[in-house]
Amino acid sequence: MSEKSLLLGQTLDFVTSPFEAPPEQAARIRRRGAVMIEGGQIAAVGEADTLRRDHPEAAITDYGEDLICAGFVDAHVHYPQTGIIASWGKRLIDWLNSYTFPEEMRFHDAEYAAEIARLYLDLTRAHGVTTMASYCTIHPESVTAFFSEAQRRGQRVVAGKTCMDRNAPEGLRDTPKSAYDDSKALIETWHGVDRLSYAITPRFSPTSTPDQLQALGALWGEYPDCLMQTHLSEQTDEIDWVKGLFPDARDYLDTYEAYGLLGTNGLYGHAIHLEPREKDRLKEVGAGLVHCPTSNTFIGSGLFDMGGLTASGHRVGLATDTGGGSSFSMLRTMAAAYEIAHLRHNSLHAAQLMWLATVGSARALHMEDRIGNLKPGLEADIVVLDLASTPDIAQRAARAETTWEALFPTIMMGDDRAIRAVWIDGKNAL
Ligand code: GUN
Ligand code: ZN
Repeated sequence: MSEKSLLLGQTLDFVTSPFEAPPEQAARIRRRGAVMIEGGQIAAVGEADTLRRDHPEAAITDYGEDLICAGFVDAHVHYPQTGIIASWGKRLIDWLNSYTFPEEMRFHDAEYAAEIARLYLDLTRAHGVTTMASYCTIHPESVTAFFSEAQRRGQRVVAGKTCMDRNAPEGLRDTPKSAYDDSKALIETWHGVDRLSYAITPRFSPTSTPDQLQALGALWGEYPDCLMQTHLSEQTDEIDWVKGLFPDARDYLDTYEAYGLLGTNGLYGHAIHLEPREKDRLKEVGAGLVHCPTSNTFIGSGLFDMGGLTASGHRVGLATDTGGGSSFSMLRTMAAAYEIAHLRHNSLHAAQLMWLATVGSARALHMEDRIGNLKPGLEADIVVLDLASTPDIAQRAARAETTWEALFPTIMMGDDRAIRAVWIDGKNAL
């Protein structure tokens, strides 16, 4: 029999979506709860007293008043942009040309790619992020580096080779054929191995010719259980550029749809300035929309319509979008999501923010039956939050009358100091 670990503390799990039920009924908090881990999975969630009594042989870790919840899921990141996070003064297109492309060029060097993959996974583990969907660069080596390092750590991750065959500098362009061939070879090597899955990754329609989009659409047709990740309607000048490049397209989404790149396993980052037809189609196919709030304020992109899109039943996840995003922290990202929603007169509940960072993102990745919640049978990726991690937060939390009220200052003001522990694949990883 495999060893049992019993984590004691306050626990937070979701019974249903807090966008579809009153938030405090959708989420369940146990003041003295426990999570039992066995063989890399969550074996039970319940009252501490009961689980202790029923499993006296389990190795106990008592986190006291700390809050045990599912590990954070970051549904859209660019790990190769780790080194250029928080670069000053540019909007999207200039930011890509000035900072991003020169840095991404360096990833033809497998050693450099491995070094940044390690650094990125160390930094994000310190923030309690246990799964992410990452863009790599056009170099297959950058994918190999990321998957190898994640595999070594037993992490569930999604990644893909970024494809670009125009509007990018020499040295950062592939072709329709090499994008297809390299992506296919990477799928065959990595997809479904251990906890790794592949996402076909056209960067966005301005950097792919119709021929490349067509080739990647055909590839997705061959591997429909792969995710497909790209960017959609992030900035208005980007949308104008897309109109000029694809004069026959009905809208931005149509530049993907026309080439077989719209589907339920599609992940569309940003999705801020959407036309009614685009919203309808995304809803119809059940595609994932990924909100990247610190990026949207940092690069000056706009205000995602969280209230409208969740009310109409869109599948929405949450993400840092590092290095366009200005933080690796999903706490900071929840705070930014709260602020953006507030600018649209919508007050998100702490339960909705936590859901977006866990179950919501897992659903966007079609992984809600594996990760993102504390539920028996799910994989044991867990974060433990200290709700009094700094004097500023502690003095506010001390006045709280409920766990929700105690949690909110950590969401708004917390950082990696609030991450008391991280468990990955059933093992204590931090
Ligand atoms: N659009 C196309 N590429 C990128 C990128 O790397 N970051 C962001 N934020 N938007 C993009
Ligand atoms: Zn992005």
